[in-house]
Amino acid sequence: MHLTKNEEKILNGENGEVMKRLFRLLVRLGDIYGADKMIPVGSVQVAGVSYKSIGDPGMEFLEDMASKNAKVQVLTYLNPAGMDLEDWKKYGFPADFAKNQLRIMDAFRKMGIVVTATCTPYLAGNLPRFREHIAWSESSAVSFSNSVIGARTNREGGPSALAAAICGVTPNYGLHLWENRQPTIKVKVDVDLDFNSDFGSLGWYVGKQVKNKIPYFTGIKNANTDQLKALGAAMAASGAVALYHIEDLTPEADLAKSKGLESITVGKKELKSAYEKLNTGKKPDIVILGCPHASLREISVLAEKVKGKKLKKPVWICTSRMVKEAAERMGYNEIIAKAGGSVVADTCMVVSPIEQMGYKTTGVNSGKAANYLPGFCKQDVCYANIDDLVEGQL
Ligand code: F3S
Repeated sequence: MHLTKNEEKILNGENGEVMKRLFRLLVRLGDIYGADKMIPVGSVQVAGVSYKSIGDPGMEFLEDMASKNAKVQVLTYLNPAGMDLEDWKKYGFPADFAKNQLRIMDAFRKMGIVVTATCTPYLAGNLPRFREHIAWSESSAVSFSNSVIGARTNREGGPSALAAAICGVTPNYGLHLWENRQPTIKVKVDVDLDFNSDFGSLGWYVGKQVKNKIPYFTGIKNANTDQLKALGAAMAASGAVALYHIEDLTPEADLAKSKGLESITVGKKELKSAYEKLNTGKKPDIVILGCPHASLREISVLAEKVKGKKLKKPVWICTSRMVKEAAERMGYNEIIAKAGGSVVADTCMVVSPIEQMGYKTTGVNSGKAANYLPGFCKQDVCYANIDDLVEGQL
């Protein structure tokens, strides 16, 4: 792999030990995947933030980096943490967990990372442009930025994203190259999609079928950005889809060559079977929406549904701190709180320790959350559209 004179110097330790170590990691990655050079990145999103996922070893590693004065060179955001960083007591997060989570956030802050913990950074002030090279980690954010925005990123691991943030570059391979962004399978959608959970079911079903291929969808007549994030998140969870194209809807679809590809069809039957497979529970003892993190529009929809009513069980909607603040100004948080629900920031149902908080069955409208909750949080899952989930609690 070609390195500039400056990069050679970094590798020789002229910019300090931390840079040397992290740059070496990027060079190794580049060598493994056949990169020709390093390319500058416009922004980074780092996963591995929740204390539940990284534990003491991760926390100590980050504190060590921060103490050695490691500093990021580009706009860097974080994936969700294990709790609401401000209101954790109110929602019943355990105090010892909170103490460690706050230590982790402190280490990130010292490195110059924006301590906004969200999987929808593009809704919270970190919006890449079309064809911008970025190094993001969280699978739904990777899918959205590649597919809906047309930015270019591989799915980075926690350490490689941190290295890209601190060195400002990433190796040029994989989805950074146009030739690797062409579709490899066609998906004909022959069913009407209404709710975000319909898109989640479609994504979950397709991810299972296509694994890590690049689907080219036809037959999706319309979809808003919330539905596209639901689709991509589910496909990345049940498969490993990091990029998809939709005829007439996503920015690179017109340039994609889909003729002659093998194809699969998804109809009513397949969508129904995905709903059935994702449903493992009977009655939820909590409903958690906002996977991926909710947009302002999704919070307004929930506020409208619960306005003036009383919920029987807790209902959370997870989002970023920025979107929560906008929702606060619009009065949505108050409406939801009066009904007995909560707008929870910085975390989500999968990376927070909900199993330690006494919940056993969680209601969700996200294919991704339904995919992970049984394994990560020992939850039974009630998978349904938002109307059924919320009406069941009124
Ligand atoms: Fe985001 Fe958590 Fe879902 S990180 S995509 S809300 S599992």
